[in-house]
Amino acid sequence: MKVLVIGSGGREHTLVWKLSQSKKVDKIYAIPGNGGMYEMAECYPLFDPEKDIDQIVKFARENKVDLTVVGPEDPLSGGIVDAFQKNRLKVFGPIKKAAQIEASKCFAKRIMNQNNVPTGRFAVFADLKKALTHIKTIKYPTVIKADGLAKGKGVFIVNTFSQAKNVLDDIMKKKAFGPAGEKVVIEEFLQGKETTVLGFSDGHTVSLMPLSRDYKRLKDHNKGPNTGGMGAFAPVRIPGRELQYIKDKIFLPTLRGLEKEGAKYKGVLYAGLIKTDEGYKVLEFNCRFGDPETQVVLPLLKTDLVDILMAVIEEKLDKIKIKWKKRTCIAVVMASGGYPGKYEKGIRISGLRGKKEPGVMIFHAGTKVKDNVCCTNGGRVLNVTAVARTFEKASKMAYNAMKDIYFKGMVFRKDIGS
Ligand code: GLY
Repeated sequence: MKVLVIGSGGREHTLVWKLSQSKKVDKIYAIPGNGGMYEMAECYPLFDPEKDIDQIVKFARENKVDLTVVGPEDPLSGGIVDAFQKNRLKVFGPIKKAAQIEASKCFAKRIMNQNNVPTGRFAVFADLKKALTHIKTIKYPTVIKADGLAKGKGVFIVNTFSQAKNVLDDIMKKKAFGPAGEKVVIEEFLQGKETTVLGFSDGHTVSLMPLSRDYKRLKDHNKGPNTGGMGAFAPVRIPGRELQYIKDKIFLPTLRGLEKEGAKYKGVLYAGLIKTDEGYKVLEFNCRFGDPETQVVLPLLKTDLVDILMAVIEEKLDKIKIKWKKRTCIAVVMASGGYPGKYEKGIRISGLRGKKEPGVMIFHAGTKVKDNVCCTNGGRVLNVTAVARTFEKASKMAYNAMKDIYFKGMVFRKDIGS
């Protein structure tokens, strides 16, 4: 079969890599793809998945694509799945209405509230004056979130009234995030360990993947600014009764709630959880695979990914048994100097072709091939990933593999998996 993967990051490179292992897959296309996917996929870098939905549908029809997998949230919330479905094309990911679980923080909070899904206390505002009155009455620190998609930059932890006022002014008055800031959620600050739980859902049932954790801060020992993720590991091991709680009290009521809204959820549901003194609570839902969590979860998958994706699309998830390897996996992100602020692109990367130890994979995130040379093309550039019996071994393997790789200005954390 012919498969199309939409997206250009480390998550999508991992999807391409995993799909390329399926005996059912003859050909993979990637739109727009990245510099690491060329060996496994035919890439079409000129399409923009956010803007060119109609052209991408046309591409899939003309090339007789049998299955499309959508990685990022923007095309999902822009309705790419609805457009594929309208054209009777098989596609993996939630419809636009269901993708609101990520695209609108207010929508997600309402669904959680109505379905008794544990989450932090919150209030929603569309009016700046009312929000300013509210922040005089609350405890600090507190969390302010722009309602809509803001490229991962719309969440703020503020410690004082004056910080909160500045953030509200930026979002609601100066429109720093455009229409994504028309409403805000002001939310209780929760403390505890964070864990990512990804679940395949066919709208009726859910199958949880191994739990994972990403490293959000730029520097070792969780110092420095927040980033899109500087590394990740899986599995995060928790007792079986806690897993059952997450399935029964978080995932299933959310899916039922979405279905009641006419938004049957088919795809991967991402729950960012925090374990507080009162138990697990939802920090956020996302409508897709996590990045860089996918890079450490999919290498542990034993079952053919195509079978799972088709079972989701055909609403037969309860008919298959999904198996996972009893191994550990870590991914270290190599990023451009200056990230998460300004950084240069187009820097030559060397050492990618060297022989790698079995169990080591290099998933590209922000790269492109220019004149046959692989260059940096984003903030997060590479995910050096290793699967082993223990975290210690996986970490050693990943850092060993990184010794061969170089690009000017590169930065990475040295404590991933330790
Ligand atoms: N790792 C965070 C995310 O995928 O949203």
